[in-house]
Amino acid sequence: MSEDPFRLPGLGDDEGGPERLQKVLARAGVASRRVIEDMIVAKRVSVNGQIATLGDKADPLVDTIEVDGSVISLMPDAITYLLNKPAGTITTSDDPQGRPTVIELVPAEPRVFPVGRLDFDTEGLLLLTNDGGMAHRLTHPSFGVEKEYLAHVEGAPKPGALRILRQGVELDDGVTAPAQAALIGDNMIRLTIHEGKNRQVRRMCAAVGHPVLRLVRTRIGPLADRQLAPGQWRSLTNDEVIGLQKSINPNTAPER
Ligand code: URA
Repeated sequence: MSEDPFRLPGLGDDEGGPERLQKVLARAGVASRRVIEDMIVAKRVSVNGQIATLGDKADPLVDTIEVDGSVISLMPDAITYLLNKPAGTITTSDDPQGRPTVIELVPAEPRVFPVGRLDFDTEGLLLLTNDGGMAHRLTHPSFGVEKEYLAHVEGAPKPGALRILRQGVELDDGVTAPAQAALIGDNMIRLTIHEGKNRQVRRMCAAVGHPVLRLVRTRIGPLADRQLAPGQWRSLTNDEVIGLQKSINPNTAPER
């Protein structure tokens, strides 16, 4: 069992650290190991933006591998849904209290799991996938994927409150990282964060004197969809998957 609480299932037996690049790419269906070796020698393969050399290793769970400039999906059968989560649903596969779950809103097969968590009362965009590697990269704070929220709050925030939201708010579990915060209506804040502390937006807004009345996630990295009604879902397009992978900042990946 992994020690990392952000590590998610989905990579099967191959979960487990760096492997030879040609092995990882052959498993992803790019070509045979022999041909991939030639591609590496021809400088057609890069890992996290660096041209690879023969003998290099990569971790399918962490690294972004490109061939001829295109990001390679390390799990060819991966499926990822974008769901507009309605309020009053729980972000889990199974709720012992019998409350409606987000899993009940998407197809039962192939089995997917939510990427990160939205609170029971929070609405908006949520990804569900069977691709453990992508889920890991999207949820681990060290990869810095942006999430944008619209928060309808009590009271009318003044510039000072917005400044604190931007600079960092002192919470029980530490100070929040710099964020973007803009007032887009008398009681409406647009907040963009790239961490995933529990109930972070609600706690940040409450800490500056403006408890949240309604919270909607409107963007995950480059993904937004204003046409998706609450409770509706759709599969990501190939271009969206590539855009999402590109939004994962490999330079902030954990050291190994
Ligand atoms: N921040 C929160 O407070 N709640 C969520 O559901 C997501 C982010």
